Amino acid sequence: MADERLVSAAWSGEDAVLDSVRPRFLDDYIGQDAVKDNLRVFIQAAKERAEALDHVLLYGPPGLGKTSLSMVIANELGVQIRVTSGPAIERPGDLAALLTNLQPGDVLFIDEIHRLPRTVEEVLYPAMEDFSLDILIGKGPTARSVRLDLPPFTLVGATTRAGLVSAPLRDRFGVIIHLDYYSVPELTQIVRRTADVLRVAATKEACEEIARRARGTPRVANRLLKRVRDFAQVMGAPVITREVAVSALTRLHVDHLGLDEVDYKILSTLIRKFSGGPVGLETLAAAVGEEADTLEDVYEPYLLQMGFIQRTPRGRMAMPRAYAHLGLPVPDAPAP
Ligand SMILES: Nc1ncnc2c1ncn2[C@@H]1O[C@H](COP(=O)(O)OP(=O)(O)O)[C@@H](O)[C@H]1O
Ligand SMILES: [Mg+2]
Repeated sequence: MADERLVSAAWSGEDAVLDSVRPRFLDDYIGQDAVKDNLRVFIQAAKERAEALDHVLLYGPPGLGKTSLSMVIANELGVQIRVTSGPAIERPGDLAALLTNLQPGDVLFIDEIHRLPRTVEEVLYPAMEDFSLDILIGKGPTARSVRLDLPPFTLVGATTRAGLVSAPLRDRFGVIIHLDYYSVPELTQIVRRTADVLRVAATKEACEEIARRARGTPRVANRLLKRVRDFAQVMGAPVITREVAVSALTRLHVDHLGLDEVDYKILSTLIRKFSGGPVGLETLAAAVGEEADTLEDVYEPYLLQMGFIQRTPRGRMAMPRAYAHLGLPVPDAPAP
């Protein structure tokens, strides 16, 4: 069930299909204009000097295009990309194997870089700085350290939690990029583009309706489009119109602001069970029946951004907008 969700951070089989709709070059990458303008300059400069691009750290909520952007960067540079993730690199030797197999100028993409083991991170520092690797060969008194030269490469790291990336690691990135939620017009363009790639007929109004409910997130927009397409097909609608989109999205329990059943559960638990908070993340997660990480990475950022909840030192609190959205009376402000 979890991986069938419309709103989720998890890699699912569906993403393999969505791979065909991933933007390949900066020109297909919609929105994030300031980011793209800067990247164009850095990429052109690196190419002109025939050097590897400086290391890039991408951070922002799931589904905003971090993995896609890393692939765009490699395509624009005209180099190969190797894709891995923090938890997958268990030992320094794993990292050494990856790094020594790169061609000059290649991109190494490490997703969830905040989950890199500490021992691996320490080996990564000189690799990033001097393109060299110090590895220990042998054990005990005969062990010796060997220095290996690496081809120049670009590390692209991605994380949903910039705060969990250690300071020494963060300092070694020359370019730090924060991806933020997309506007409705940008998401409309993304839905339009995906519909065209998938050869789905959809009106402008339908694309807009899907975009409005996509919680600022391209991954959600693409998933909603695919589910709406299923409904349209079964309903025998040759074109996805706004009416088709609305009826499908209603059946999917995605409301006009993009909140789904889990969001409703979070808000109503917060209000009904904890009198609007403040309540700690772990307690709230347990009451809702979700992982605390999922709550924090996937659901909370959008609820915060929309002004439904607030994070305080004592925990999460429901805001007046949450009461209004659930059709509940807003309680009087507590006496000072
Ligand atoms: N700027 C964008 N323009 C067009 N499509 C995008 C953009 N950003 C993301 N997408 C689409 O959204 C999906 C999720 O993006 P992804 O790069 O996997 O996000 P992240 O790695 O940040 O979780 C991809 O399938 C991609 O097609
Ligand atoms: Mg990703």
